[in-house]
Amino acid sequence: MNELKNKSLMVVGGAGFIGSHLVEALIEEKPKSIVVVDNFFLGEMGNLETAKTKFDVIVENQDACDYEKMKKIVETNKIDVVFNLACVPLPTSLVKPIWTFDQNIGVAKTLCRLIREGSFKTLVHYSSSEVYGTATKETMDEEHSLFPRTPYAAAKAACDHLVNAYYETYGIDMVIIRPFNNFGPRQNDKSYAGVIPLTVKRILNNEQPVIFGDGTQTRDFIFVKDTVNATIDAYKSDQTRGRTINIASGKETSVKDLIDLISQELSYDKPARHDAPRPGDVMRHMGDITLAKKLIGFQPTTDLRKGMKETIDWYKKRHVV
Ligand SMILES: NC(=O)c1ccc[n+]([C@@H]2O[C@H](COP(=O)([O-])OP(=O)(O)OC[C@H]3O[C@@H](n4cnc5c(N)ncnc54)[C@H](O)[C@@H]3O)[C@@H](O)[C@H]2O)c1
Repeated sequence: MNELKNKSLMVVGGAGFIGSHLVEALIEEKPKSIVVVDNFFLGEMGNLETAKTKFDVIVENQDACDYEKMKKIVETNKIDVVFNLACVPLPTSLVKPIWTFDQNIGVAKTLCRLIREGSFKTLVHYSSSEVYGTATKETMDEEHSLFPRTPYAAAKAACDHLVNAYYETYGIDMVIIRPFNNFGPRQNDKSYAGVIPLTVKRILNNEQPVIFGDGTQTRDFIFVKDTVNATIDAYKSDQTRGRTINIASGKETSVKDLIDLISQELSYDKPARHDAPRPGDVMRHMGDITLAKKLIGFQPTTDLRKGMKETIDWYKKRHVV
């Protein structure tokens, strides 16, 4: 069992959606220090507001691809554990493919190099279910073939291969978390936003929601707080090292049903508009969470409807302000 108490932690991408929730959950573990490294590409200082009222979170505005700068931050703060959640997201990769690829792999490269050199002890790296592409069997377990369909997914797969290779070659202390579609408060709703924030925002602005394609494409939606709790459990367990672990709800929801749910919650009764399918859009996506259950006793606690209420309340408050 690995404790986080009195450890010095770093969350790369910690000013983002999942990262900021992870910072809040880590505070409850009573660490010695928490350093957030973020270049604020999509991250926001406001995402860390709650965390900062509870703990003296150190924030470094820094591109985590930069090896020299990262070495200095990691060593100055005597970091024990790095959680890597930095990413340039999928929608950006459709318009800036090579830059997205370079950024995502650049962060993973830097962290692999630093852990190999002994600058910190443990790497908890975030993958994405997008690396699987469209499901070739009903539920996707960790053995499902990797068939990335977008430059974002290709970069995420490349990062996973690199981290795994460092485990095999140099025996680094690592675990890879592979989340499916996360939702919850603070998901980016500006440029490059995902389907949930975009739909909520459109309806709040009295605009028609948009479905790319026919809406039958499915996703597995997991509430962000379930993901961050699983991340902490995965760090703590001795059984997870060298493993890649799906974190999902294990349930499949079509984009059309998702938009219907959001419309119901917001009492919006007009139909969605259908636009052309998005390039590289995966058609079926549902996670198999058998491994997470076995290794860390994972069980999602917040279902889609309950989590959606909390999410919508958050966007509503922001919309009014
Ligand atoms: N949101 C999801 O549904 C989902 C699903 C599967 C996997 N993931 C993975 O989870 C992680 C977090 O995703 P998120 O949804 O919170 O994204 P996000 O965009 O909200 O957060 C990512 C953060 O990384 C920062 N960042 C980007 N490039 C950086 C760089 N070079 N140096 C420093 N910071 C940088 C951004 O500013 C942002 O704050 C990512 O690895 C993502 O691939 C997310």
